[in-house]
Amino acid sequence: MTQELQKRVTLAVEAAEAAGKLLLKVRNHLEIEAKGYGNWVTNADKEAEHIIRTAIKETFPNDVMYGEEGGGASAAELATKDHLWIVDPLDGTTNYLRGFDQFAVSLGYWQGSQPAIGVIYAPAKDELYLAIQGSGATLNREPIQVSETKVLAEALVGTGFPYEPDAHGYNNSDHAANFLARCPDIRRMGAAALDLASVAAGRLDGFWEFGLAAWDVAAGILLVQEAGGQVSGFRGEPLDILAERIVVSNGLIHEEMLQVLALGQTGL
Ligand code: IPD
Ligand code: CA
Ligand code: CA
Repeated sequence: MTQELQKRVTLAVEAAEAAGKLLLKVRNHLEIEAKGYGNWVTNADKEAEHIIRTAIKETFPNDVMYGEEGGGASAAELATKDHLWIVDPLDGTTNYLRGFDQFAVSLGYWQGSQPAIGVIYAPAKDELYLAIQGSGATLNREPIQVSETKVLAEALVGTGFPYEPDAHGYNNSDHAANFLARCPDIRRMGAAALDLASVAAGRLDGFWEFGLAAWDVAAGILLVQEAGGQVSGFRGEPLDILAERIVVSNGLIHEEMLQVLALGQTGL
């Protein structure tokens, strides 16, 4: 690893931990606003993003940051910027507001349209996920790998439901019903970045969701890839993080997941 990449890894970990600390500190002093139906933003989201933006600016002033709350680069710039940070300062805001511990800070560093560093920090559980392109994935510095579950009939898969239905009015309940009929159980845990991290850690065997933004997945997809898993769009095409549909798995059940998705309507 180059010294410069190592410096960015340190920056990403420290910024995620600092933002996570802030989230815990202000949890009982929140100003809450609605961004849309069921979509909340708080002073915690904004302050956490400010911490990350400031840390990046201080260390790498020419890097570009695309954050959920403050913008920065535009989505179109994702493809063109070379030193790009894609940040969700608080993923799982609804959980955070309601006293569930499944929420996290997510930082993806991208180079040449490819993820190079992924950091996801869940402060309430003190879990730090880190992936570096070509160097594997870790949870609290211990290597992690995807699960070995071979068939959907024995799998635990996760999903999420978009705040807004897709252009045709579908809301993922079709896919959820199809998966429920074919595997023992599913999870809707409420923080997409941690769903991806859970596939990387082998806690979930697979995950799909429609309607996610680039900041939800920019770090998590590298974790899944570096832990030996597979990522794609709903039809098995290479993942486009702006296309708002993602399937990740341990690789072994990927084809089966695509077959189940092909039976539904949402996002297809
Ligand atoms: C949300 C969470 C949720 C997913 C939503 C996301 P937020 O992010 O990741 O699991 O289903 O689509 O928007 O709003 O808590 O940052
Ligand atoms: Ca999010
Ligand atoms: Ca968020």
